[in-house]
Amino acid sequence: MAKIIDGKGFAARLHVTISQLTSQMQSTFGITPGLTVVLVGDNPASQVYVRNKARQAEAAGIHSETRYLSAQISQAELLRLIDQLNRNPAVHGILVQLPLPAAIDPQAVIEAIDPAKDVDGFHPLNVGRLSVGGNARLPCTPMGCLLLLKDCLGDLAGQHAIVIGRSNIVGKPMALLLLRQNCTVTIAHSQTRHLAEECRRADIVVAAVGRPQLVKRDWIKPGATIIDVGMNRIVTDSGATRLVGDVDFPALQSIAHAITPVPGGVGPMTIACLLLNTLAATYSQMNWPLPQALNELIP
Ligand code: GUN
Repeated sequence: MAKIIDGKGFAARLHVTISQLTSQMQSTFGITPGLTVVLVGDNPASQVYVRNKARQAEAAGIHSETRYLSAQISQAELLRLIDQLNRNPAVHGILVQLPLPAAIDPQAVIEAIDPAKDVDGFHPLNVGRLSVGGNARLPCTPMGCLLLLKDCLGDLAGQHAIVIGRSNIVGKPMALLLLRQNCTVTIAHSQTRHLAEECRRADIVVAAVGRPQLVKRDWIKPGATIIDVGMNRIVTDSGATRLVGDVDFPALQSIAHAITPVPGGVGPMTIACLLLNTLAATYSQMNWPLPQALNELIP
């Protein structure tokens, strides 16, 4: 039976380290890291994510503020708020929760955030640095996936990885991170032919397509490691709703080497990585070197 990768436990241990690092920053420098999360509109899933981010930031000693804005806000007003946050020295990290209402261009908003405060790693400067090398702020979900993979497998060099999904938030940066770890990387997407065959060649499968239980047992090479980024709410035969990932978890358990559960796998790692990014952004804005304990955690 596959090892169940305990993202929840890993994230809980990261929280302990993050709390120690924030209190050390407070006692040494008198600075509290500050994170501002901006939520536009009333998407219920985004409200839950934003609440969790704020709650966990505060629990780790990071000062967190959430700006709730009406879905009717203009793009110009949102850009003005970002400009204020960019210039506020108490704000070290800015996160604008996606998706945004259709009338607002998300790329214009992302590009308005100071790259030094871009704790999502979505700004083109950070995306470019991830691609060509350099000190990039890494997107939180792929960073969390990579921490789990390295913890489970150690050195990833030479492994064949497939990333299913090519979003800017997960798929593309995940593929770049795996390439940086010297994996051989395949990026699969909705137009990929022979997806099952492509998948069967992989030692590492990262599923991030948002299609419930898409990845089946016969798509998996025996002994592969599976990272499931999917979070799909489905209605069961009894009429109840249940959260499932992008892979058929019960079926894959008997063929994989290791697999993340949903929930309790990748999800908790995303917020822990956001807090790591906020801490790292604070150090770099203050022009202080990263403490070794933090440097070692960021891949
Ligand atoms: N929406 C879904 N995932 C994310 C994320 O990682 N960051 C932001 N800003 N919005 C999201």
